[in-house]
Amino acid sequence: MNDFAFRSPTAFTFGRGVCDRCGDVVAQAGFHRALVVYGQGSVVRTGTLERVLRSLDAAGVEHVELGGARPNPEVGLVRAGVQLARDEQVDLVLAVGGGSAIDTAKAIALGVPCAQDVWDLFTKRAQPAGHLPVASVLTIPASGSEASDSAVVSNDAEHLKCGLNSELNRPVIAIMDPELTFTLPAYQTAAGVTDMIAHVMERFFSGQPAVGITDNIACGIIRAAMDAGRRAIECPNDYDARAELMWTGTLAHNGIAGLGLGVPGGRDGDWSCHGLEHELSALDPKITHGAGLAVIFPAWMRYVWREHPGRFLEFARQVFDIEAVDPGDADIVDIVDIDEDITPERAQADAVEAAIDELQDFFVSLGMPRTLGELGIGEGDIERLIPGLRQNRGERFGSFRVLTLDDARAIYRSAL
Ligand code: NZQ
Ligand code: ZN
Repeated sequence: MNDFAFRSPTAFTFGRGVCDRCGDVVAQAGFHRALVVYGQGSVVRTGTLERVLRSLDAAGVEHVELGGARPNPEVGLVRAGVQLARDEQVDLVLAVGGGSAIDTAKAIALGVPCAQDVWDLFTKRAQPAGHLPVASVLTIPASGSEASDSAVVSNDAEHLKCGLNSELNRPVIAIMDPELTFTLPAYQTAAGVTDMIAHVMERFFSGQPAVGITDNIACGIIRAAMDAGRRAIECPNDYDARAELMWTGTLAHNGIAGLGLGVPGGRDGDWSCHGLEHELSALDPKITHGAGLAVIFPAWMRYVWREHPGRFLEFARQVFDIEAVDPGDADIVDIVDIDEDITPERAQADAVEAAIDELQDFFVSLGMPRTLGELGIGEGDIERLIPGLRQNRGERFGSFRVLTLDDARAIYRSAL
């Protein structure tokens, strides 16, 4: 079990109707004036924004609003938010929405005390000097941004999408009202389920030795996401399914799912698939992050699993109840009709491939794509993905298996 440092300082308020208590929660935490950041209109249409503003008013918390954060949020709105937050002297940035609104809020919060352009923080030309506190009223379980140490922002002019990991990014408050997610389109629910599963798998497949407690937590989170995800898509107003999914998304990415599996001196997981996906949604911001992951993750798994087959066999066993048959086990040979010439290596490969197939079929069963072609990405686009990957990840990246940019090209090609 590798060493780790872990903090999850977010105060969670979870349950039916807690959206209407957000003003009290914010006021009790000592905040007086909030910049309320939201997306492209869903929270206006559903009435969530109005409820939040009314709750802030009732609690005596002043507010100014900034709408328009698009999926794969753009730095232009962040710059406008930094200016607004400075002019209005807010003491809190409150996102009402999903990862895109929350990451916009996080970037604004880091940008306010930064002497340079906020984008320089994301390209690592500047270091965070401080930040405003961030809170959220979550409307989609997916990114885990409501408790994560990460913020991801795109720059259209530079064709880049860059992540910034810092403990400063951990929000102080998360208001989690599962009823707010009843209105989610099935595609967004499915992309969210895929993203949360990916957050756990990035850590599970760090390439580091197994940690029993963490592996059990991780695989339990994945099984819960699959189960609640199926139920939420079948019945969008199923409160328990929505509630389980909401909490699952938080646990998948606040760090608890990878403790002890981090790379010594490095990251808390492999994170290659997120790197490969972020280039897709940088190239075309209309690509939903989770949908990109549904294509990339199985392709990466097929490419790398031979590096540490034991991890994949553990994943197959715990998540899908799939075990490699032992051709030397006379009892099994008696009850299962297996090829007599099968080798242990072939049996392992069959089990791993079956688990990857199950995972990919699950994503597809929710409505996620199987190929890059379904996302509008063709062979001719692959070279356009490489410069951003080189800038964000360097010439070699990943820890389960160290990948070169040629490996990245091969993974993209295998997913076409
Ligand atoms: O923009 P609006 O109109 O609000 O609509 C959104 C958006 O179109 C809609 N939506 C959200 N809640 C809804 C709803 N529609 C109806 N009812 C509701 N209750 O859903 C769409 C997706 O919203 P978005 O915030 O973009 O989704 P998500 O939470 O998946 O965030 C995606 C962003 O987070 C980044 C992704 O790369 C992407 O940019 N990530 C952030 C991470 C982090 N900060 O820790 C980690 C992740 O790996 C990820 O990279
Ligand atoms: Zn993600």
